Amino acid sequence: DLSPATARTAQPVQVVAHRGSSRALPEHTLAAYRRALAEGADAFECDVRVTADGQLVCVHDRRIQRTSDGRGAVSAMTLAQLEAYDFGSWKDGAGAADPEARAVLRLDSLLELVADCGRRVDLAIETKHPVRFRGRVESELLKALARYGISGPGGNPESRPQARIMSFSALALGRVRRAAPEFSRVFLFDRMLPLRLRPGASLPGGATIAGPGIDLVRARPGLVPALRRAGHQVHVWTVDEPADVELCLELGVSAIITNRPAEVLAQLGR
Ligand code: G3P
Ligand code: CA
Repeated sequence: DLSPATARTAQPVQVVAHRGSSRALPEHTLAAYRRALAEGADAFECDVRVTADGQLVCVHDRRIQRTSDGRGAVSAMTLAQLEAYDFGSWKDGAGAADPEARAVLRLDSLLELVADCGRRVDLAIETKHPVRFRGRVESELLKALARYGISGPGGNPESRPQARIMSFSALALGRVRRAAPEFSRVFLFDRMLPLRLRPGASLPGGATIAGPGIDLVRARPGLVPALRRAGHQVHVWTVDEPADVELCLELGVSAIITNRPAEVLAQLGR
């Protein structure tokens, strides 16, 4: 079936480095993002959380024990407390000699890398804990992007980095839509949506892009075609297996979010 909703898109698929090149180096470290940059990734994915003293850091889990030698919740610690821990040594000594592979990553450091790297690298930024801080993460994130002159589509020349905001929470995306409608918003989900995907149907939180997980995409072959027929771009996470990359290409997704950007780019012949 080569109807427009199932065929490969004419646009090249964007390869997004999930938490940096995070199969190779400790996730969410500056070293992992520098590696993704060198490998040719089109965009960076990151998760953002707020510290007890109101700083944005890129950490996936609510607590830090999986990815550092410390314990406790990010939101209960100051940035200085987080900076005292080693966020790299948990990962098989990868990059052990490089301080940038061991330090907690401030969002500002990642934005600086993107702003100064000399080519266009987009950002797919996921906000965590939408309820507890009642919009603080989203508002601080929008301020940080403004500080580095990073906008959404149309906000800057094509050659400049663009950011999109992602969340599993319709509440968080709705906040971004009201505060800064110029940013694209990706609704992330890993189970079927409680809505009928008729052409023109809107996504939760007024999202502009659909972000299903690869397990769901594999289990429901009609999902991506239905999303595309409804008029949505589709960005799929976290796609590390060659067969899943091929499936995403066949389905015409617009972005592949992966821990292995170099391998995915090689599979795409880039
Ligand atoms: O890119 C979306 C994906 O990262 C969502 O899941 O748990 O890895 O943040 P998670
Ligand atoms: Ca994420």
